[in-house]
Amino acid sequence: MKVFVTGGTGYIGSHTVVELQQSGFEVVIVDNLCNSNIQVLDGIEKITGVRPEFEQFDLTDEKATRDFFARHRDIKAVIHFAALKAVGESVSMPLEYYKNNLNSLMNVLLSMREFGVKNLVFSSSCTVYGQADVLPVTEQTPRKQAESPYGNTKAMCEDILRDLAKVEKDMNLIALRYFNPIGAHPSACIGELPNGVPNNLIPYLTQTVAGIREQLSVFGNDYNTPDGTPVRDYIDVIDLAKAHVVAIRRLLDGKNKANYEYFNIGTGNGVSVLELIQAFEKATGKKVNYKIVGRRAGDIEKVWADTTVANTELGWKAGVPLVETLANTWRWQEKLGKG
Ligand code: NAD
Ligand code: WQD
Repeated sequence: MKVFVTGGTGYIGSHTVVELQQSGFEVVIVDNLCNSNIQVLDGIEKITGVRPEFEQFDLTDEKATRDFFARHRDIKAVIHFAALKAVGESVSMPLEYYKNNLNSLMNVLLSMREFGVKNLVFSSSCTVYGQADVLPVTEQTPRKQAESPYGNTKAMCEDILRDLAKVEKDMNLIALRYFNPIGAHPSACIGELPNGVPNNLIPYLTQTVAGIREQLSVFGNDYNTPDGTPVRDYIDVIDLAKAHVVAIRRLLDGKNKANYEYFNIGTGNGVSVLELIQAFEKATGKKVNYKIVGRRAGDIEKVWADTTVANTELGWKAGVPLVETLANTWRWQEKLGKG
C-alpha cells in the first residue's frame, strides 16, 4: 500500500516515513529540500533497511504536481507535511508563506481529486487555538484569530479541507493538530535540522549545551503559571509519527466517522520552560546555561491538549517519557556536533 508523503525529508516527515515503512507501507516522498537535506534518506534507510522513493520538486508547481500523480497511479493516501513553518519569518514574508502553504495544499488536493486519491492527513497545529480561555483545549475549543501569517495558513488550510469535504463526499480528510513536537529517533540517524539560529526552545537549548550558543534565554518568568514560565505540551516526534500511521489506517480501513475530522495530538501534560530544562539536566547529566530575560512578543502563556478524542477515537496515546525524549534529542545533537 503506497503512501505519498510531502515534506518527507523534513523533521516530522522523516520520522513518519520510518514509522510507515516499519508498519509495512511503501512510501514515495516529494520535497523541494528548501528546509531539509537529501542525506535524510540515508538515515531513513539505515533505520528501516528501505530507501523510500524520492522526487525533488516544488509542490506549488501545479503541473509538476499533476505530472507526479499521473506517474504514480498506485498512491492510496497522502500525508501533507510540506510547508514553511517559521512563525517570525512569516510575519516579514507573508506572501511567501501564503503562496507556499496554500498553493501546495491546493495542488495536492486538485490532483487527488483528478486521479481519484481519496485519503489525506494534514499537518495542522495547536497554533489555531491561540491563547484558549479554558484549558486543556479540546477539539471543540473555538479557534482564535491567528497571531501570524504562518498560523493563519494552518487555519485557512483547515477551512479548505472542511469546505472540500462538504462536496467531495468520497474524499476523506484528517487534520492533526500537533502541540510542540520535540525529540529525535533513538538511533540518532534522523532528527531536527534547524536552519541558522533556532527559534524553538529545544534546538536552542541543545545547541547551548553543545557550546554552539552561549546561553539560553528564557523568555519571561512573570506569567500566571506555577513557576512563572510559559507552559506547553511537548510531544515526542516518534509518538507524533505513530499518530500519522494510525490516522492513515483509519482512513484506509474506512473507520472515520466523518469525511473531515481533526484531532489534538499532544501528551495531555503541560510542562513549563524551567521544568523542561530540569528534565533535560536529569536526562543527560548536562547543565543548561540559561538566564531569564523579558517576554517574547506573541508568546502565549499556556496551552496543553485534552487528548481524550485522539485516545478513544484514534486509539492513539503518547507513550515516550519526557526524559527519554530529551535523552534522544541530546544524542542527536551530539551526533550533529561531531559533524
Ligand atoms: P520541516 O521544515 O522540517 O519539514 C517541512 C518539509 O517540507 C521540508 O523538508 C521542506 O523542504 C518541505 N517543503 C516546504 N515547502 C515545500 C514545497 N512547496 N514543495 C515541496 N517541499 C516543500 O518542518 P516540520 O517541523 O517537519 O513540519 C512539518 C509540518 O508540520 C509543517 O506543515 C508544519 O507547519 C507542521 N507543524 C510543525 C510543528 C513544529 O513545531 N515542528 C508544529 C505544528 C505543525
Ligand atoms: C516554547 C517555549 C518560549 C525559545 C511554536 C509555534 C507553534 C508551533 C510550535 C508550528 C515558549 C520558550 C523558546 C527560547 C524560550 N509550530 N522559549 N527561549 O512558541 O510554543 O510554538 O512551535 O505550528 O505554532 O509558534 O514553541 O519552542 O518556540 O517555545 O524561553 O530560546 O519556550 O517562550 O514559552 P512555541 P517554542
